[in-house]
Formats: sequence, C-alpha cells, structure tokens
Amino acid sequence: MITTPRGVHDVLPQDAYKWQHVFDNAQNTARVFGYKQIRFPVFEDTALFTRSIGETTDIVEKEMYTFKDKGGRLLTLTPEGTASVARAYIQHNVQGMWKVFYTAPVFRYERPQSGRYRQHYQFGIEAIGSLDPALDVEVMSLAINFYKSLGLKNLYLSLNSIGCPDCRKKYKEYLVTTFEAQKENICPECQSRLYKNPMRLLDCKSQKCKEIVKGVDKISDYICDGCKEHFNKVKFYLEKMNIPYKMDPFIVRGLDYYTKTVFEVISESLGAQNTLCGGGRYDGLIKELGGKEIPAVGFGAGIERVILVMEEEKVEILKKDMTDIFIVTIGENVYENAVEALYELRSAGISAEMAYDKKSVKTQFKAADNLNAKYCLVIGEDEIKKGVYILKNMTDGTQEEVNKNNILSQLS
Ligand code: HAM
Repeated sequence: MITTPRGVHDVLPQDAYKWQHVFDNAQNTARVFGYKQIRFPVFEDTALFTRSIGETTDIVEKEMYTFKDKGGRLLTLTPEGTASVARAYIQHNVQGMWKVFYTAPVFRYERPQSGRYRQHYQFGIEAIGSLDPALDVEVMSLAINFYKSLGLKNLYLSLNSIGCPDCRKKYKEYLVTTFEAQKENICPECQSRLYKNPMRLLDCKSQKCKEIVKGVDKISDYICDGCKEHFNKVKFYLEKMNIPYKMDPFIVRGLDYYTKTVFEVISESLGAQNTLCGGGRYDGLIKELGGKEIPAVGFGAGIERVILVMEEEKVEILKKDMTDIFIVTIGENVYENAVEALYELRSAGISAEMAYDKKSVKTQFKAADNLNAKYCLVIGEDEIKKGVYILKNMTDGTQEEVNKNNILSQLS
C-alpha cells in the first residue's frame, strides 16, 4: 500500500472545516487591514531562495526540496513565501506601496514532530514600500487580530530589533571574538557556523550553547541611533494600541534577510513547536534581488500550529457545511421523483442530499442525521398521489406538507 511520505499529511473532510475557518479568518483580517491576495508558484528558481534566505541558514543548507527538471533547470519547492513576493514585486514592476497576503504550502525537509512537518501551510502578509515604524506595528497587530478572531488565548508577542547591516557588523565581530574564546564549549554545528553566521548561535537549541549565550551582550547594546529610534517608535505605537509584548533580546529568526524589527507570536498552549508566527522587516531584500532599495515588513503564520492550539484550547468552530435538505424516499416507485427533486433543489442553490441505492427508511434518516441535515423532504407513494411531499424539521421534529410542484417557494 502506498501512503503519504514522511512528514506530510492529508486533511480529511471531517477536519477540513477547521482549515476553512482559519483561512476565512485570515482572509477577512487581511481584508480589514487592506491586504490583497497574491498567489505565487509552488516552485521557483533555486537561486531565488539561496540569495534571499541566505547560504548559511538551515533552510538553504539542509531543508530545501531542490531538483532538476527535464530541461536541466535547478528548481526548489517554496520553503517560504517572502522571497516569491519580493521576486513578484520586482518582476511585475510594481511601484510604491504593495500590501499582499497569501495562504500557501511551504516545503522544508525538517525532522517531523507535532507542529513541524515537511509540508505546512502559511498565512503570510507582506507590506512592501515603507520604512514607517507604524507599518511594523500594522503587521504585528494584524497577526494579533487574526489570532483573536479565532478565539486563541494563551499567546504573546515576542519582540526584538536586530538592527541594520552596519550595527550588526559590530555585533557579529563581538560574537565571533566571544565565542572563539570558548570554542571548545560550543556544539559542533555552531563551531562550523561561527565565522559564517555567528548570530545563529544565539538561538541554538543545544544546552552548551544556551549556557554561553546567557552571558553575552545583547544586540540592543550595539544598534545604531537610527535603528534605536525606529525601534522606540515601534514600541511606542504598540503601547499606544494596547498590544502587550515581551522583549526577547535573542530572537534572531532563521532567515538572513531580516533588518531592524523582528517578532514572533508564541502560544503557551503548545510544547516544543510553539511559535505560531514569525516575521519582521527586510529592508534590503528587494535590492538584493535586483530591485530598487525598497523597505518591507511581513510575517508568516503556520496554519497547522494554529489548528493544534485551537484543539488544545478547545475553541468551538461552527461547522458551516450542514446539508439543508435530505430527501427520504418511502417505496420503490418514488425514487425517480426523488432524483428529480434533488436536482431541482440543488439548481436553486439549496444543499440537498439523498441516499443512493434505495436504502431502507431507517438508514436514510440515519444518513440525514449524520449529515446534520436541517430538513428531510419525505417522498412517499401516498404523498405523490396527493401531489405533495412532507417537509420534516430535523431540529424540532415538526412536519408539514409542501406542494410537489412548488417546493422552492414553500421553503423559507
Ligand atoms: P518562519 O519563521 O520560517 O518565517 O515560518 C513562519 C511560521 O511558519 C512559523 O512561525 C511556524 O508557525 C510555521 N512553520 C515553519 N516551519 C514549519 C514546519 N516545518 N511545520 C509547520 N509549521 C512551520 C518565514 O517563513 C518567513 N517567510 C516569514 C516572513 C514573512 N517574514 C517576513 N515576511
């Protein structure tokens, strides 16, 4: 038997309504904040990601699904959405401010566990074209409102500024010197990335590295006046909007394109994979990809993790896919009337079902119950003779006769 590859999952009909609910809320929150939908391809030129995300990141070094197509092109399944949006901005010669959102599949060859998969979905938003700190806060507040609209509770916004390339240069030099002095105490992976990407050591999960990190200077001690001013304004607006945040001086994020503000939304209802959303500014990316010098900010929010939290916090989700009418037939000779009525109802936009294969009346009512049908339209031989059907309200059990030739006008 062939089953799904490791780390990827089906979403079956009994769960898909939760996904639809999350996507609907994502789309609606994006609309309220003025973001328009973008859809980009599932694969892109590999170079797009190596240049955007950074050669020495885990994603590029270990996690990309890269392959050659039959024409010999080197392609990669999207390991994140920001690079594709930046590419689209440049390729389509967009001018000025561009605010877009996406709900897209993302592929990373990671070690699967609860909340971490090899294909996951992201609700992402990208606001390209302004350096205003109020825009950083718009993006963060959009994320918070999205989670609030879903009824999630135990979460908080974690915030940091990682400065611009200038201030980061000094900080990186400091980190290299500090870690070099204790090189034998850091994990082998960090030893090898120390010179290439020293900031990655700050969020290393190994206990040895964590101990050393506790004692190092924070990036906030190194950021320049411009970055400091920007960050102060971000905090000011967050406070003004009553959006609580916790400073985390060691959030660095796993992608190299970030500048200044970085943030994550953390759920206290999840264990290890508790980052619901991650984002920040990426003021250098459009230029890096061959465009003009255009600042931008955005986030990506994992859909699977949101659903895990909703299940954990027992958030009720209304099932919208109820059947309006289930047709129940009594007697062999009415079957054709039922097929006809079924088509008539559906053509009028009413969701209608019947049990095929001429099942027993009991089985038909059971099927109606399983589908949570609001009404049953009972078609029996006696009724046909009288030119009526019986409409049974499945919530209160009441029933009434409806004219066979005029069902639609009698349904209110
Ligand atoms: P990221 O932090 O790599 O950022 O991913 C964003 C979110 O996607 C994470 O916070 C998490 O909820 C979810 N996620 C990531 N990897 C997995 C996985 N293997 N399984 C399940 N969920 C996962 C980005 O991708 C950036 N493009 C975000 C961004 C947009 N920054 C600016 N604009």
